[in-house]
Amino acid sequence: MQGKTPRRRTLRRQGAAHRGRHATGLRLSRPRGRARLATVSANETPARHQPPTATHDSAFLKACRREPVPHTPVWFMRQAGRSLPEYRKVREGIPMLESCTRPELVTEITLQPVRRHDVDAAIYYSDIVVPLKAIGIDLDIKPGVGPVVERPVRSRADLARLRDLTPADVPYVTEAIGLLTRELGATPLIGFAGAPFTLASYLVEGAPSRTYENAKAMMYGDPELWADLLDRLADITAAFLKVQIEAGASAVQLFDSWAGALAPADYRRSVLPASAKVFQAVAGYGVPRIHFGVGTGELLGLMGEAGADVVGVDWRVPLDEAVRRVGPGKALQGNLDPAVLFAPREAVEAKTREVLDAAAGLEGHVFNLGHGVMPSTDPDALTRLVEYVHTQTAR
Ligand code: CP3
Repeated sequence: MQGKTPRRRTLRRQGAAHRGRHATGLRLSRPRGRARLATVSANETPARHQPPTATHDSAFLKACRREPVPHTPVWFMRQAGRSLPEYRKVREGIPMLESCTRPELVTEITLQPVRRHDVDAAIYYSDIVVPLKAIGIDLDIKPGVGPVVERPVRSRADLARLRDLTPADVPYVTEAIGLLTRELGATPLIGFAGAPFTLASYLVEGAPSRTYENAKAMMYGDPELWADLLDRLADITAAFLKVQIEAGASAVQLFDSWAGALAPADYRRSVLPASAKVFQAVAGYGVPRIHFGVGTGELLGLMGEAGADVVGVDWRVPLDEAVRRVGPGKALQGNLDPAVLFAPREAVEAKTREVLDAAAGLEGHVFNLGHGVMPSTDPDALTRLVEYVHTQTAR
């Protein structure tokens, strides 16, 4: 509890002192000078990145490092976005992918849940397909559908369309993170990217899929092409995460949302090497690396092995069992079923208590949902949940 009150005041104070009214109607501080462009390429070894002391000492980063915390830190996957009326308002008339390229809008949307819920970390507002769009892949996000790719990647010739990503491809990311870290004060910012398998699932299928038959056909039928595709995506993903860390993100999460579709042996052989390459590429920065997927109960050990410092767990495996599967030396993140938030307050608290009890023996625990906030979730239920976890775990 103690940890959270001063931080909330910081945000408010900054809001009063520094925020002007921007031409778009958004309340943001003016960028002081041009945002610094990240300079590290995908192949260079990065220097360690230590965030400012107050951020470094935040409950969230401490829990990721498995250090003692004043309270269990909380953030929610998809906290920035569709569940918030203030988000729907600022997004009106702006297509999803365009919204990701406007630094002031990105900053505002990223800050909204921090202001409203008092979460312990912000997550950069973007989408996993943004780096692919940035290197010229002909994709779009169709409302009510999700990411669709005009010409799916099915052959070696298609693979040649996936070029390297450089910081100059995503100047809006560097600029937005520069704005954000100033506004956030001590609250850490989580950068993120889609993992090679989950990105490949969209690129090869061409649209959201439940069965991944085209992706798996390539994985089983042309393992060399598959390996080259995932390796290419690993380089793009690593470069994209480096831009975010260089700009000021103090943790990163790799979303392998759909990896749960794979058997462990296939994951180990055909996916893990690419994800491990991503984690390895950013290891030198010293920022916590979180690895998350849905339905990955059978893969938790391997997802830790890939090089994560924190393993994200969905609601299907209790955290005391998850820690046995992951092994020592890693923190866990999770894992309240997002659907629980539709139940009455007492039920939410009882289910949250179960998560906290299962987490009692962990070396480090970051409280989260087992997957993203659902669109029709009552935002007040999220605010109450943060408060509940903070008070229950204050030490
Ligand atoms: O809040 C919103 O969801 C509205 C904005 C939006 C995002 N992505 C933000 C986002 C929209 C409309 C999308 C499109 C999209 N992208 C879909 C459509 C269905 C849907 O859920 O809205 C899908 C499936 C994607 C692909 C995608 N994006 C995946 C698989 C992930 C990983 C997280 C997950 O849900 O498994 C993302 C990341 C993502 N999309 C984030 C945001 C703000 C960042 C992560 C986070 O905030 O936790």
